[in-house]
Amino acid sequence: MRDFIAGLPKAELHLHIEGTLRPEAVVRLGQRNGVDLPFDSASGVVRALADRPAGLEGFLDHHYLVGDTICTGEDFFEVTHELLETCRLNNIVYVELFFDPQAHTSRGIPFDAVVDGIQRGLEQGRADFAVDANLIMCINRERTVESALEMLDQARPHRDRIIGLGMDSYEEGNPPRKFVDVFARARQEGYRLTAHCDVDQTKSVQHIWECIDLLGVDRIDHGVNCIEDPALVAELVRRDICLTPCPVWRSTDPGPQDIDRIRTMYDLGLRITLNSDDPGEFDSGYLTDLMTGVQDPSGYSKADMTRLAINAFEGSWLDRVAKDRHIAAVLEYATSHGVAPT
Ligand code: ADE
Ligand code: ZN
Repeated sequence: MRDFIAGLPKAELHLHIEGTLRPEAVVRLGQRNGVDLPFDSASGVVRALADRPAGLEGFLDHHYLVGDTICTGEDFFEVTHELLETCRLNNIVYVELFFDPQAHTSRGIPFDAVVDGIQRGLEQGRADFAVDANLIMCINRERTVESALEMLDQARPHRDRIIGLGMDSYEEGNPPRKFVDVFARARQEGYRLTAHCDVDQTKSVQHIWECIDLLGVDRIDHGVNCIEDPALVAELVRRDICLTPCPVWRSTDPGPQDIDRIRTMYDLGLRITLNSDDPGEFDSGYLTDLMTGVQDPSGYSKADMTRLAINAFEGSWLDRVAKDRHIAAVLEYATSHGVAPT
């Protein structure tokens, strides 16, 4: 099964560039850029990761601390190029990559330097590793609406290099409706739209409704709590909205997170994909390891794993021709391994 999953052509739709930093990279970049960190070795980063408080807030506090070691366009280039190399090793042939502009511009790094560095990394990575990618800029939802609008202004010269708008970060007290005007403007400007609805937030179900009814998103990131509301599930299926849950794990977890609920989403006919979110910060790592770790305890067959891979291409923002080309490659791979896709 592991070999089958490893060879499966894959797309990754929920991955944050800032979450790809491995502990060694945090220390290297931190020292190079003179960033004051509460740890000076990779093992110190690993310990801080293990000891962080459970839940989204504890994770994000650590995530932004280590993300602040990325300081220059050259850093963004390096980190992005390395990511695409890792995608190649995982047979991830297409990635839609999140980045958090406000987390960087608020530290004085120009928006242009961030986008130019990432784009150079993507171009070089495409040439070196034959991995294709598109960029999604995320609103940090705890920041102001004015700050999000300013981000859209800064993105304007890069319109053709950024495919979509997302929304991530601290969800409690920051409902999707806060950013209705920002999403409306982004839609007008031609961006595709997605938003995080993290797991077990106080108003997760309401937030998913707001995303589809008020923001008009094409996709929902995480969205696991939708199964609590049959009318919401029916609407997500009717509109064919793709959801991107992330069954990640840390070494201290009993297993991959939320796999029973994610399996229920799959069985309800929702278009779900499996995703790694922040692979440098979880022990689940990238898709080959993550999908292998999830498959057996979830009871997915090879045909199911094939379906999940197809969902990712279908739910992507590639054009129809590119989607069909990738899906044909998945089907050919499955057939050549004696798997009849469902
Ligand atoms: N930033 C990086 N990963 C995130 C997640 N899972 N939820 C919200 N913000 C994030
Ligand atoms: Zn995420």
